[in-house]
Amino acid sequence: MKIMKVENYQNMSEKGAQFILEKLINREVNVLGLATGGTPVGLYEHLIKKIHNKGLSLSHLHTVNLDEYIGLAADDPNSYHQYMEDVLFKHIDIPSNNAHLPHGDAENVTYECERYEQLIHQLGGVDLQLLGIGNNGHIGFNEPGSPFDGRTMVVDLAPSTIEANGRYFKDPNNVPRQAITMGIKTIMDSKSILLLASGVEKAEAIKELIEGEVSEKTPATVLQKHPNITIIADEEALSLVNKTIV
Ligand code: PGA
Repeated sequence: MKIMKVENYQNMSEKGAQFILEKLINREVNVLGLATGGTPVGLYEHLIKKIHNKGLSLSHLHTVNLDEYIGLAADDPNSYHQYMEDVLFKHIDIPSNNAHLPHGDAENVTYECERYEQLIHQLGGVDLQLLGIGNNGHIGFNEPGSPFDGRTMVVDLAPSTIEANGRYFKDPNNVPRQAITMGIKTIMDSKSILLLASGVEKAEAIKELIEGEVSEKTPATVLQKHPNITIIADEEALSLVNKTIV
């Protein structure tokens, strides 16, 4: 586990974007796993600028997102399809058929989970998966108690997640109660992982991730077992970690 300590959100975003850019340039990453939420917004902004500055084409790239709310169509303003369109896809030349997310409005969500898992397999797996971390230690929407051997599946969101994500909805009562998420095993199969964390509200989860006992009670602790994970976190997010990180 490689940990990079940065001063603040801006530094985290810039460093994270540079990390991804270099791997895109070297063609080390042809399947990029993406995350949503507040954390990666700054990274996407920096990445778009860097891609434009380099004149880099991403017409070969495939992306796979971690999750999507059940019941929201792709054009719903609160869907992660729409989020990705706004913060990244419309700014770069990735073909729309190469940008994959689970369909939250699928008629048969069980089948949709299988299709998504199969798709990742057909793409040859994820080369680099970008992750945030929930205040409760979730990764993707794998909430506390999720099985470490889980594949893409339908999950009930934890009350703390529904509350945390309410800030993105006009009416916080409209946060969907369920989602489709890549499972923990699906995430762990990624060849490399980049996890970002910023702010004191993530400090407890980051402490557990780095120093806690590996347990399904805190899904992110499974990442201690990943052979190629880099964490970029700011001083506040690392403030409860005992081990010295420079
Ligand atoms: P956030 O969410 O980036 O909005 O804090 C992270 C997560 O839930 O994984």
